[in-house]
Amino acid sequence: MNIGIIGSGTMGSGIAQVAATSGCQVKLFDTNRQALEKSQTALDKVLTRLIEKGKINDVEKSRIQKSISYIESLKDLSDSNVTIEAIVENLNVKKSLFSELEAYVSSDCIMASNTSSLSIASIASSLKNSERCIGIHFFNPVPLMQLVEVIPAIQTSEHVLEKSVQIISDWKKVVAVAKDTPGFIVNRVARPFYGESLRIYEEGIADFATIDWSLKTLGGFKMGPFELMDFIGNDVNYAVTESVFQAFYYDSRYRPSFTQKRLVEAGYLGRKSGKGYYDYNKNGNVIPTPSTRGKESHNRDLAQQIFDRILVMLINEAADALFWNIASAKDIDNAMVKGVNYPKGLLAWADEKGIDWCVSKMDELYDEYREDRYRCSPLLRKMNRENSKFYNQ
Ligand code: NAI
Repeated sequence: MNIGIIGSGTMGSGIAQVAATSGCQVKLFDTNRQALEKSQTALDKVLTRLIEKGKINDVEKSRIQKSISYIESLKDLSDSNVTIEAIVENLNVKKSLFSELEAYVSSDCIMASNTSSLSIASIASSLKNSERCIGIHFFNPVPLMQLVEVIPAIQTSEHVLEKSVQIISDWKKVVAVAKDTPGFIVNRVARPFYGESLRIYEEGIADFATIDWSLKTLGGFKMGPFELMDFIGNDVNYAVTESVFQAFYYDSRYRPSFTQKRLVEAGYLGRKSGKGYYDYNKNGNVIPTPSTRGKESHNRDLAQQIFDRILVMLINEAADALFWNIASAKDIDNAMVKGVNYPKGLLAWADEKGIDWCVSKMDELYDEYREDRYRCSPLLRKMNRENSKFYNQ
């Protein structure tokens, strides 16, 4: 299988490594020669580390390296069976690339985009044969994250969808098929993890460390929301929130927060700038412990209240994604576990907590705030009425 990858940055380089490891012949194209050189050097380092860890041997390293050629002309992608675009996140630039590339590749070549926020339908519209276009959305770092969202546009043919799912599964990734809607699965369903945590902080209910602590201790999340936003970069995380908010016609459920906006404006981007919600220059990698405000029982109640509120908002978002047929229950759960390392699938979690618990927690929030943001998904309400669960036990 010949794979053409356009854009040799973080994502393109990772996709090239995964495809080559799985036995594909890869051609990696970039308009920037330095980016190609950087990608080649980075791959050498990564593969050397894998040898040190005993994951691959010298022969495998050299095979992977020989499978990737670094090219400076788009025309060299003419023998591709699949092309995957991972260039700058700009619709017009992507459309013009797709349109130019279509002239070089064969008529049965699948043309995919790794976009995380643009509509696949709009990218597909730049092609003469838009049926061949599909979203294949990897997660960073590509070699480590198991999930890949596959997104057919309204133009995409059934055959192209099936073939794409097959190829990505052959690369030993977990596929979740998602509808072509803003944020697909993960970037939509995960929004309350950040947004509700920021809101709890802004309301003065608790500080960053307490919120992080409650989600890690009571929820089993590997990182708390503030730790994670600092890790992702507040600029990147804020941009995703803002784009999802706009794309959903300003639905208040996805509203960005001023707290995060100010951090971005101040240059407090997180770990990469030395300071975000936490000060890494001062404290190194140590996340501060939560402040205690009084009795042990009060602190425990507060942590539980924070965790319940964020969890039910996440469950509500996952249920609503199912309600709107964004993906199957299994794919929504798999996406959150394999794409962002959640300790459990949110719909399985809903079953565990009880659908009645989810509905009453959402209604409590709605009664308190009277904001649309806290509307309970009609699916949860219906399931509660019918006494049903997401999974049969
Ligand atoms: P990056 O900035 O690391 O790499 C982009 C590369 O594309 C650069 O090397 C640049 O020289 C090249 N490029 C720009 N315009 C080009 C053109 N017209 N033709 C050929 N090459 C061109 O970006 P990154 O992070 O790898 O992202 C790439 C795409 O993947 C974007 O669409 C992004 O939204 C998406 N994505 C990014 C994720 C991430 O965590 N970084 C996660 C999932 C998707």
